[in-house]
Amino acid sequence: MPHRILVTGGAGYIGSNTTLQLLDAGYEVVVADNLSRGHEAAVPPGLLRVVDMHDTERLFNILQAEQIDAVIHFAAYIAVGESMKLPEVYFYNNVAGSLSLIRAMLRADVKKIVFSSTAAAYGMPSRSPIPESEPSAPINAYGESKVMVERLLDWFDQLHQLRSVRLRYFNASGADPACRAGEDHEPETHLIPLLFRAIETGQPVTLFGDDYPTPDGTCIRDYIHVTDLAQAHISALESLFAGGPSATYNVGTGAGYSVREVLDAVEAVTGRKVPHVIGPRREGDPPALVADSTRLRTELGWAPRHSDLKTIMATAWAWAQRAHK
Ligand code: UFG
Repeated sequence: MPHRILVTGGAGYIGSNTTLQLLDAGYEVVVADNLSRGHEAAVPPGLLRVVDMHDTERLFNILQAEQIDAVIHFAAYIAVGESMKLPEVYFYNNVAGSLSLIRAMLRADVKKIVFSSTAAAYGMPSRSPIPESEPSAPINAYGESKVMVERLLDWFDQLHQLRSVRLRYFNASGADPACRAGEDHEPETHLIPLLFRAIETGQPVTLFGDDYPTPDGTCIRDYIHVTDLAQAHISALESLFAGGPSATYNVGTGAGYSVREVLDAVEAVTGRKVPHVIGPRREGDPPALVADSTRLRTELGWAPRHSDLKTIMATAWAWAQRAHK
């Protein structure tokens, strides 16, 4: 019997890509999403249950009726800037919503969860690449909301044997190589889709600061292809199904690229110039965020396969052109 997985937030960017890969790998999938930020069209036909994470009763019914074996929990708000303006919304949605889901899981006796966490857990890290042993010290409400859920999961591991793998993503990017799913946020805040938009509209994109202590003065990030990210969730599930313990893993490549290098890669793949201006630094941006993913590689045998900048750009560009047709 194939395992049956509930994917919360499966109508979103990473959730929809992971759903496709789970199906490709032979899992059976049910998607729970309230469609507040996600897109119905991103979910394969028949899989979507429109439900809010605060609706514990409905989640319990779905877990039971669908005979779910494990949950991958993506459903959350993700915009760092917005989280500083509306922290109450972020804590209610991301923390209270997760607690509601956990309560439904405990009642339905579903004891395995893969949780979507973030490099924002590290705040302004003192070193780079960053290992998981670096203390959690978020500097925005979004990162704090994810760390709070990680801590909840620690307690439920200890008290109820709820096993969890928390994946701390670095910069999710790229699109499904077969162009079935990709990034489609509104408003968009992420660098790569904004660079493409600048090409399409002719409106310059602002580079947030060129006076950082990095080789070219712009911020360095670790861009991880969404397909590799999705694969990390499958590796995490396999570990839980094999009886593995709760664990936290960084998901990144270990290679950092500056904003200017990303812009150059966009120009190379599109053959077009990106109109841009240099603006002030964006509040809360650390100069460099690069993952040490040794633990994920050694413990779960995961390795990135699509995360070279060229593949990221080619798939993201194919998706951007398709999405705007
Ligand atoms: N950037 C610009 N101009 C823009 C947008 C971004 O110069 O218009 C720069 C940012 O300053 C940053 C880099 O491009 O240096 C990447 O920015 P993104 O907004 O694409 O991504 P972030 O690194 O800020 O954020 C990502 C996720 C967050 C997560 C964070 C963890 O989107 O959800 O990584 O570090 F919290």
